[in-house]
Amino acid sequence: MDYSMGKDRYLRIMHALTLLLLLSSTTCIASKLSSSTFYDRTCPKALSTIRSSISRAVSRERRMAASLIRLHFHDCFVHGCDASILLNDSDSITSEQNALQNKDSARGFNVIEDAKSAVEKICPGVVSCADILAVAARDATVAVSGPSWDVKLGRRDSITASKPQAEKDLPLFTASLGELIDLFESKDLSARDMVALSGSHTIGQAQCGLFRSRIYNSKSDIDANFARTRQRRCPATSSPQADAMLAALDLVTPNSFDSNYFKNLIQKKGLLESDQVLFSGGSTDAIVTEYSKSPKTFRADFASAMIKMGDIQPLTGSAGQIRRICSVVN
Ligand code: HEM
Ligand SMILES: *[C@@H]1O[C@H](CO)[C@@H](O)[C@H](O)[C@H]1NC(C)=O
Repeated sequence: MDYSMGKDRYLRIMHALTLLLLLSSTTCIASKLSSSTFYDRTCPKALSTIRSSISRAVSRERRMAASLIRLHFHDCFVHGCDASILLNDSDSITSEQNALQNKDSARGFNVIEDAKSAVEKICPGVVSCADILAVAARDATVAVSGPSWDVKLGRRDSITASKPQAEKDLPLFTASLGELIDLFESKDLSARDMVALSGSHTIGQAQCGLFRSRIYNSKSDIDANFARTRQRRCPATSSPQADAMLAALDLVTPNSFDSNYFKNLIQKKGLLESDQVLFSGGSTDAIVTEYSKSPKTFRADFASAMIKMGDIQPLTGSAGQIRRICSVVN
């Protein structure tokens, strides 16, 4: 301590410092998510209710697990995890569902709405749609034998949506590795997070219209036999019917959450261009190789990247609202 300083002045400085500390800690609390116990007192059965709703949906249709994980991703990347993607078109909302990357592609809305109405029945107006979506993505992952993690809670729902922002912030299958790295970096996710999260392409499906150019272009960085196999169920000529034909993103084990996706990439059997760029002589090759050899590392990294993704710009405290129906604002 500086004894040349007057006692008064010293006290005043200490007082100011204390205030500053207090202020900075409260702003932190206001913008951060809470632990997974957030609803323990206000809705103790929330998490078990969501879980049974999601496991029922996934046992009805296994692909739904993939669709729900993707829905959470497409929510979080556009103005944060605020359930904006769930809002329908209306007088005041231009739905993100009609953004290029979502239209005729994003699915699982009814499953989230069903889980929400089950939760509303036991504790009306308490649990946000954004939290339900985050928990659903975790439960869906677990339902297809993927890793588990504690979902941080306390997100609130937006009262707006932005289709133009969705078109800007959601990745395109034609993106280069550099573009993907930059896009994820802009959401505070590293290249390693990006590769781990892309590993969810170990389940789910893509439409012919999105991978046709890759499987018919002789200059593609693609295994020739794999291209021929995929051509069988994806006609060279575009038509609405042909474009909608589906193929598994992971041809080997399309329904289980494993490391096969990364093995495929090493064999040049990535279905989308944006899959193969992760292993094409660039900076992420080593990560792909690592995950292909160590499912354990992939699972752990996937779980922590999902937690980071779920942390993107949440609405907390008194911001936004708790929607009663996920597809419309209150
Ligand atoms: C790295 C950039 C990414 C690009 C360019 C991309 C692109 C795509 C495309 C084009 C599809 C097929 C959609 C369709 O045909 O309708 C798809 C499906 C899917 N994506 Fe991604 N994705 C990326 C990252 C991610 C991430 C980070 C996740 C989750 C954390 C994810 C999860 C999924 C899942 C699970 C499916 C299958 C959905 C279903 O079957 O309904 N993707 N992705
Ligand atoms: C939102 O749109 C979906 C799909 O068209 C529809 O099933 C649902 O009922 C709509 N929500 C409301 C509240 O009208």
